[in-house]
Amino acid sequence: MSELRFPDNFVWGAATAAYQIEGAARDDGRGPSIWDTFSRTPGRVHAGHTGDVACDHYHRYADDVALMAELGLKAYRFSIAWPRIQPDGTGPVEPRGLDFYDRLTDALLDRGIDPIVTLYHWDLPQALEDRGGWTNRETAEHFAAYAAAVHGRLGDRIRTWTTLNEPWCSAYLGYGNGLHAPGVRDAGAAFAAVHHLLLGHGLAVRALRAGGAEVVGITLNPAQVQPADLDSAADAAAVRLVDGLQNRIFLDPLTGAGYPADVLEHVSRMVEPTFVRNGDEKLIAAPIDLLGINYYAPTYVAGRPDGAGGSAYPGTEGAVEFLPATGPCSDMGWAIEPAGLGRLLDRFAADYPGLPLMITENGGAFPDRVIEDGPDSTGRVADADRIDYLDGHLRAAHAAIGRGVDLRGYLVWSLLDNFEWAEGYRKRFGIVHVDYLTQRRTPKASARWYQEVISRNGL
Ligand code: FCB
Repeated sequence: MSELRFPDNFVWGAATAAYQIEGAARDDGRGPSIWDTFSRTPGRVHAGHTGDVACDHYHRYADDVALMAELGLKAYRFSIAWPRIQPDGTGPVEPRGLDFYDRLTDALLDRGIDPIVTLYHWDLPQALEDRGGWTNRETAEHFAAYAAAVHGRLGDRIRTWTTLNEPWCSAYLGYGNGLHAPGVRDAGAAFAAVHHLLLGHGLAVRALRAGGAEVVGITLNPAQVQPADLDSAADAAAVRLVDGLQNRIFLDPLTGAGYPADVLEHVSRMVEPTFVRNGDEKLIAAPIDLLGINYYAPTYVAGRPDGAGGSAYPGTEGAVEFLPATGPCSDMGWAIEPAGLGRLLDRFAADYPGLPLMITENGGAFPDRVIEDGPDSTGRVADADRIDYLDGHLRAAHAAIGRGVDLRGYLVWSLLDNFEWAEGYRKRFGIVHVDYLTQRRTPKASARWYQEVISRNGL
């Protein structure tokens, strides 16, 4: 097979998030986050797992960075834990929290790895949640102040700043169906959260720019929505509704078009959107330099008057049926369909042209196990299914670049096995296996495969 080469300067990397890997939940003045509270609430997270220790990355970051260097990563996307910087979410910064990210940043730069920062990957300070969290407009302002504080310390060394990770999840899973922290189940709260997250993004972009940040963006998890039947008008309407709730409600205001009328009309059936104030849409539309896309699987829907709808899609009951995945699936039960990534990238190029893209997450959970080949073995993990997954998605990304999509990089989710939110530690997404009892790291076969991809800049 002929070799597929990616553009020069294509960014190859891996991604993680603070609560999922750091542990050290009480070190150096860190305050509690909504995930500390949620994971301690019985029945919320699989087997009562918490992020208290996780991969102990807070203490092992130097070794983890050495491993990234060994794998040849050009970039590393990590998130900053807001409760380490402002234990109560507002007010004076905790210098020891900033010191950690300072050390991490320097360790990455020493190894020639470009740090890509996410300011918010879901770990809201609990003190802010006690005042309404993202349903409270003030949280957006606090977020911008926090962003400025972090940038003030790290802005001299970090080029690429992303404000939020997947605000869809924060809003709809956090406040809509309650599957994620803070576990609220209220459609109106979910839509207020969507707006305040977007407003927080806009205010943070403004603060980052004022501080001189070079590249500023946001990461979304856009749905690649497909109709069950390509010829059905009802299915097309279901696609439009779901696309509105997951994609256009974020993308249109972010790109300056304001909230789409059909989405506002849908939202108004559940809540009067008085939280949208004059001037907000202008703030949200602050220009960005990069859009991060997290893609795992497509979403198939049908339009049905008796449809059960989706708990993460308020107002879809009695209109939409979400179809179960058919064909090969990952350990999450998510369909493995690389062509979905291609369709998604094409859609961005067509509907939101001129916006440079980066795949900021893509990967698969599989039931990996470490094989010990003898008493002196350091262990190995034969994760051919993950290699297939990554290979398929990289081929789809490569083809999209060939069709003219402005894709700048690819970050695998994830560097390490980690705390997979409500699933706890039972789902493994890493290219590096983590034994949670010993904290031993074992690069899986996929890590060695990825190392080769990076060194050849292709497949
Ligand atoms: C994404 C999250 C990330 C990880 C993957 C599997 O939605 O951003 O933290 O949990 O899913």
